[in-house]
Amino acid sequence: MAHRPVLLIVDDNRDLAENLADIFEPRGFEVRHTPSAREGLDSARATGFDLAFVDVNLPDTSGTELLPALRGHSPWGEVVVITGHATLDSAVAAVRGGAFHYVVKPFKVDDLVATAESALRQVALRKERTRLAAALEMSERLYRDVVESAQVLVVGLDPGDTVRLFNRRSSEVTGFAPDEVIGRPLLATLFPPDVRDRVAAHLASGRGNDEFEAPVLTREGRTRVVLWHVAPAGSGTGHDDESLARYVVGADVTERRTLERRAAEHEALAHMGTLAAGLAHEIRNPLNAALLQLHLLGRGIDKLAPDDRGPLPDRVRIVAGELRRLERLLSDFLELARPRPMAREPVELHAMLDELVTFHEPAALERGITLVRRLSEGVAVGDRERLKQVFHNLIVNAMEATARGGAVTVSSHREPADHTVAVSVSDNGRGIPRGTIEKVFEPFFTTKEAGTGLGLAIVRQIAERHGGRVQLESAEGKGTTVTVLIPAASTRAASKAPAGV
Ligand SMILES: Nc1ncnc2c1ncn2[C@@H]1O[C@H](COP(=O)(O)OP(=O)(O)OP(=O)(O)O)[C@@H](O)[C@H]1O
Ligand SMILES: [Mg+2]
Repeated sequence: MAHRPVLLIVDDNRDLAENLADIFEPRGFEVRHTPSAREGLDSARATGFDLAFVDVNLPDTSGTELLPALRGHSPWGEVVVITGHATLDSAVAAVRGGAFHYVVKPFKVDDLVATAESALRQVALRKERTRLAAALEMSERLYRDVVESAQVLVVGLDPGDTVRLFNRRSSEVTGFAPDEVIGRPLLATLFPPDVRDRVAAHLASGRGNDEFEAPVLTREGRTRVVLWHVAPAGSGTGHDDESLARYVVGADVTERRTLERRAAEHEALAHMGTLAAGLAHEIRNPLNAALLQLHLLGRGIDKLAPDDRGPLPDRVRIVAGELRRLERLLSDFLELARPRPMAREPVELHAMLDELVTFHEPAALERGITLVRRLSEGVAVGDRERLKQVFHNLIVNAMEATARGGAVTVSSHREPADHTVAVSVSDNGRGIPRGTIEKVFEPFFTTKEAGTGLGLAIVRQIAERHGGRVQLESAEGKGTTVTVLIPAASTRAASKAPAGV
């Protein structure tokens, strides 16, 4: 101990106090003497003490009663009670109440010194423990701050892979609050079913520097792509973390991967574009010729007597349907692969949507679906035919996903805040499964027997060529809403849209 230990003597017997000072000062103590309980307390409050000798009989109160207040002012100090034979009982009571020991007058100097020394050892231990606790708390706080402020997801696991720690970044990325995740199994809570085995294998491999990419589930049932790293938990991170066996640490690479994937898609389409454009011409000419011939064939059949027609009209209809589908695939594909320049003119979206809904009403009626309009005025800048194709694709998707008795709602309104017109097509149909939402915009992704999988890819491409964007919300079994935001007319946002890309 760097400083001299402070010995506080609270005793109204001046001779005794001087005696004690003579004994302890040469032994390195700084001795303070106060003759009353009140002054003893003042001294303790002002400077604390390491050891106090307190007379049981004080002029203003008893040493026993003084004890708690005295210790309150110097939490690590020890108190030794001095007593005469007559008051031994109260000295014993004082020890029960927290005094270190008692000495009976007259006392032997050696005994007193031995008692004082053992009390001081006690004090030293207590001080050390306090210091260590403070240091530990400090390092824990530091560790927490580092974990909390990190721009990576840090998920702490116990030996059974139950989540024990979930840092702030993990909450930001997944939308889960820590208490929604802590105490739950990692795999079932944070990973989609189809990747759980793979993640479990990485956790079990126990190799250092094991890095792998896996989607993490968000609170809304979506996924984000995360690059993960499994790290064993070091020892001694703090008493309440002893159950931590390892960490999974991850970086959210969703945006990066999306950009990479879309760049690859664009490149692939661009490569195909040249080839496809040539091929499309080659296909389109005979296709049109075939359609024309079929038309003539149909007319010829119509001239036959009804009894002689047999299954021919049906066959003509089927072949015509297939040829038209082929033609649509061709033009969809060309639209994606080699987009032609876009017009930019004011387009009254509410009027266009009203017409489109009217166009789809007979089909909706046949399927037992209600089409709902919620249209308010909004004028966008762009290419009328292309925008029509966007909303057509969305309405068809919505109707195809909706069962008899369901509803498809088409709504539009201006978003003055970001100078756009927002158009939503919303259905209460089957919805899109969690793991699929990310894929639906990819060209050729389809879950339909006769689908091309180009519908949403075109929607996104056209929206983006207008300087707009597409948002999709879906819950399996509940429905889907796709919202397209297109720059509004007579705003700067509209004139900034990329021209004719
Ligand atoms: N409203 C919706 N509800 C549920 N699933 C949808 C909805 N819209 C799209 N999907 C899913 O996204 C997939 C891709 O849609 P997209 O429009 O790109 O192609 P498609 O409809 O399959 O074929 P195409 O539009 O070329 O005929 C669909 O196959 C379907 O699984
Ligand atoms: Mg479609």
